[in-house]
Amino acid sequence: MSQPQEVGAPDQYGVVGHPVEHSWSPFIHGMFAKAAAQNLVYRLFDIHPDVFRRETLRLMTSGVRGLNVTLPHKQAAAELVNELTPRAARAQAVNTIAFFENTTLLGDNTDGVGLITDLTRNLQLDLADKRVLILGAGGAARGVVGPLLERELRSLTIANRTPYKARKLAAEFSDVGQIDGCTFGEIKGPAYDLIVNATSAGLQGEMPHLPEGLVGESTVCYDMTYGRGDTPFTRWAAAHRAGLISKGWGMLVEQAAESFMLWRGIRPNTQPVLEALQS
Ligand code: ATR
Repeated sequence: MSQPQEVGAPDQYGVVGHPVEHSWSPFIHGMFAKAAAQNLVYRLFDIHPDVFRRETLRLMTSGVRGLNVTLPHKQAAAELVNELTPRAARAQAVNTIAFFENTTLLGDNTDGVGLITDLTRNLQLDLADKRVLILGAGGAARGVVGPLLERELRSLTIANRTPYKARKLAAEFSDVGQIDGCTFGEIKGPAYDLIVNATSAGLQGEMPHLPEGLVGESTVCYDMTYGRGDTPFTRWAAAHRAGLISKGWGMLVEQAAESFMLWRGIRPNTQPVLEALQS
């Protein structure tokens, strides 16, 4: 009689953030792993910014093979790794780390491709010649500015509570397309084609105060944060009668698929996961 094949210990992955308990990444990567018959576990690691470097390196030495990085660590992660993919180097922000046995830490950023795939494939938007506004200039915004500009937008405005960060980010990408940075109060109409919320204000139940006239009947309002029910940003968009309001579930699943690809060499099918999350 043949013996049942011994299954080795699962490979370890996870997401580091603070806070992180709201993350759906374990569910998503669990579905990917099952569909692709990959023996892995994916866990949440709540790591305070003060000990990010030490604790992340400790995870690596304890055998974790890859990490997703979420707020507020994406820029710190770009400084931690010893190699960056070109898109992560451009963004100076990392949302995916792969640990290799020769102790190389490779940092990638899959947020941009995740957002673009959700906007263009799942939501069927054509971004060419569109006026786009991004709220926020932190690690989340950094990952998506370059990939958005590469879609030949008419213009991209970055507005942030701390204005110098918005202006600095705009200056870093001024070679790629028409881009400017400002405070929330300085945002000018007419209505934008697309407004992306890349602030973490919603986690504190807040929505930045914005001037009137930014939303028209065809404006798409996209919240990169996600969760069950409304967010302060989606409530604001609904109150201003936006044409389409979307939360970042699609981006979350698409960026996760790209991370999975980096770690396991397999690009999972995202549709079943999107459907599971929608139901
Ligand atoms: P992430 O990885 O999510 O971008 P981050 O790098 O900590 O996390 O950046 C958070 C972003 O949300 C920043 O743009 C921050 O604005 P500041 O640069 O002024 O700090 C923005 N943000 C956080 N809380 C906010 C609030 N209550 N109102 C407006 N913007 C807020």
